[in-house]
Amino acid sequence: MRIFYRGVWVCSFFAAFLLATSGAPAQEHQAAGGSPDQDASKTAAQAFKNVQVLKDVPANQLIPGMQFIAASLGVECEYCHVENQFQSDDKKPKNTAREMIKMMMAINQENFDGKREVTCYSCHRGATRPIAIPLIPEQSASATQPGVAPENSTGGKTPPKFEDILDKYVQAVGGQSAIEKITSRTENGTITIPGGQTLQVDVLAKAPDKRAVTTHGKRGDSVTAFDGQVGWMSAPGRPARMMGPSDVDATRVDADLHLPIDLRSLFTAFKVGGVEKVGADDARVVTAERNGRLAAKLYFNEKTGLLVRLMHFIDSPLGFNPVQVDFTDYRDADGVKIPFRWTVARPTGQFTIQVNSVKQNVPVPDASFSPPPAPEAQK
Ligand code: HEC
Ligand code: HEC
Repeated sequence: MRIFYRGVWVCSFFAAFLLATSGAPAQEHQAAGGSPDQDASKTAAQAFKNVQVLKDVPANQLIPGMQFIAASLGVECEYCHVENQFQSDDKKPKNTAREMIKMMMAINQENFDGKREVTCYSCHRGATRPIAIPLIPEQSASATQPGVAPENSTGGKTPPKFEDILDKYVQAVGGQSAIEKITSRTENGTITIPGGQTLQVDVLAKAPDKRAVTTHGKRGDSVTAFDGQVGWMSAPGRPARMMGPSDVDATRVDADLHLPIDLRSLFTAFKVGGVEKVGADDARVVTAERNGRLAAKLYFNEKTGLLVRLMHFIDSPLGFNPVQVDFTDYRDADGVKIPFRWTVARPTGQFTIQVNSVKQNVPVPDASFSPPPAPEAQK
């Protein structure tokens, strides 16, 4: 799946969801598809027309599951779906995929106590046909897998305590009271999207965790926002779409204006891991859980103590969808250090926001973060 395909968005309105976290350019849509009701209280079978295997998953979890499938096979939605007729079974790979979902569930049921150990990606690794013959590595290949922390590299010493890593981070940003003094932030800059196109972008944020990212595209504005409760996205000419619960969990972290001092309350457990390279520098990896499930990995620069990478693991019925946010170009602004540049990367593509100007503690109305009123009776 490519989100941008020959310069246009594919998968019509679903494309918006694929970039849900951290602000995204969701403009330049193709013609619309239908608009199934993604009410969280409905099952996928109730909300969609032809869901036979994933029928009992919550309706708003189906698309995240589809994202996971597409990323696992390295294909676009159209590999399995007739454009704008997602219910159609005319394409053979869709029927194969349905059997594969059953197979994956049976493997986990019969061999792993029903735990989701084997996923589409376990076999497919980004290809439609899994490789069955071991590869001979390129010389000196020391490939580490993305998202898998090497267990060994603790730097030879006993790893630091999480409290100390967190403390160093808070101090590096400017200290607790400097962080607390910031109540709002407005940023202007540019966003570079796949294909190299650069657009103007505004980021509004307000304590504790309201945030809106507006991309100014040719056809109008696209917004990704979180109002402290609900996350939503809108694109020119389409009604706003609400984020599902796993996207909301990740978005809440990204939206937190006081992240260094709120980090503890955003997750339920932390585990200090080894050291990995982020860019040219060593970074300490901390794994964060939410209610007993992997939720994120945090990478702190060993020298500066600053957060340089945040990996979200967004749950779906079939596996985790990873989102990697890299923070660079930290600069001083009113007593706190904030990243002026961040890159949001997914298996399907990435975008980079470069901030040019920042204002803090300016009034930002709450309405900037609220979803627009639903259009009446659209079917
Ligand atoms: C490898 C094949 C495959 C890919 C790629 C894929 N899907 Fe699906 N999709 C399926 C299968 C299989 C089902 C039916 C699942 C079931 O019956 O439980 C389905 C069902 C759906 C449905 C429900 C349609 C209805 O009304 O019954 C939607 C919507 C959907 N997919 C959207 C997407 C989107 C958006 C993408 C791209 C992000 C995507 N799919 C990528 C295989 C795929
Ligand atoms: C245990 C390993 C394994 C798992 C897990 C697995 N697959 Fe497959 N899949 C295969 C193999 C092997 C083939 C190739 C069969 C062939 O060559 O005819 C295949 C083929 C396919 C194809 C047909 C590709 C084509 O040629 O067009 C689709 C679509 C597919 N898988 C989807 C999925 C999806 C979706 C999942 C997760 C729900 C999944 N697979 C999980 C092993 C796996």
